[in-house]
Amino acid sequence: MLPTEILKNHDTPFYYYDLEVLRRTLELIKSSSDYPGYHVHYALKANVNPVILRVVADYGLGADTVSGGEIVRALETGFAPHSIVFAGVGKSDREIALALRSGIGCFNVESSEELARIEELAREVGETANVALRVNPDVDAHTHHYITTGLAENKFGIGMDMLEPIIQHCIDSENINFRGLHFHIGSQITTLEPFRILCERINGLQEYYESRGILFASINVGGGLGIDYDDPDANPIPDFRSYFEVFHRYLQLRPGQELHFELGRSIVGQCGSLISRVLYVKSGRTKKFVILDAGFTELIRPALYGAYHKIQNLTSHSDIMDKYDIVGPICESSDTFGTDVLLPEPRRGDIIALRSAGAYGEVMASQYNCRTLPKSIFKE
Ligand code: LLP
Repeated sequence: MLPTEILKNHDTPFYYYDLEVLRRTLELIKSSSDYPGYHVHYALKANVNPVILRVVADYGLGADTVSGGEIVRALETGFAPHSIVFAGVGKSDREIALALRSGIGCFNVESSEELARIEELAREVGETANVALRVNPDVDAHTHHYITTGLAENKFGIGMDMLEPIIQHCIDSENINFRGLHFHIGSQITTLEPFRILCERINGLQEYYESRGILFASINVGGGLGIDYDDPDANPIPDFRSYFEVFHRYLQLRPGQELHFELGRSIVGQCGSLISRVLYVKSGRTKKFVILDAGFTELIRPALYGAYHKIQNLTSHSDIMDKYDIVGPICESSDTFGTDVLLPEPRRGDIIALRSAGAYGEVMASQYNCRTLPKSIFKE
């Protein structure tokens, strides 16, 4: 439940973060990932609000980054350099050099072309780059096609059939310290079955390479665990215990082997809501519109992916229920948060919450239409 009395007194729109939910989430992650060799990294791409980052870092998680900017942000927050992994299909020379200088834990490398460039830049500065190869395991995560990444047709990773010579190259190179394999099959995955299939793929790969005398010091299974967008109050914290258990049960780790996770949405998704005010309730010819002071500039997920966020009127006590299209002020039709949403009768000035917006919300906000980036407030 959101604290309406507090939220009412702030200028809208803004992001509201419940740090108690975040801490409880992190505590469950810590206690349920307590298996030998398990390391959990936080995927910064989900949210880089400094207050949120500080809390996550305090729980001793590593960082998963996808740009030079994120590496700098992770270091500034106090994530240990060796706990930082760096992924992405298009790392620039400047980003690679920064990562080498910073002594990050691992480059997750997506192609032989990128590997050659990292090797060259490491040689120039007399460094050795820690490298894991991102494998495209061709596992269907059954999630939105924009956020599926583990299928053969996606741009991500190296196909399993192309892997062997690239691994050999890593092993032979003087400027590369080959660490192992990296995977990420997609995001907002709501059943554990795709993760179990991923474990089986990895088992097969390990057996194959072991028979050729190649061992992996580290396996990284990426992120992707989903959250309950439908009922955030009933399920504020994902079932991390079952999630980690799947890997413990099905993934055959070798003695001393490290297992890395890169979780984003499941860590920060449920602690955040976008809070806005009703500007106008407009009667159209066939529909009623609730026009908010927040738009896709503050939360782009509905416009970009057709994503669902639960919409609540926190201040209406009316018994009269009706259906409304909930829209923002931006001059584009896609600026819609929900159509035919059943809500108690809204009035100008009502406070509307868009729930489960802690991940890929504030961090994807834009200044389109010369709008100001949203502020954030916190509940300790
Ligand atoms: N590791 C890699 C290599 C990734 O590409 C991602 C997310 C993650 C970890 C973290 O995944 P998570 O645990 O958060 O599912 N903007 C989209 C989501 C894009 C996810 C991109 N990659 C959305 O709003 O749904």
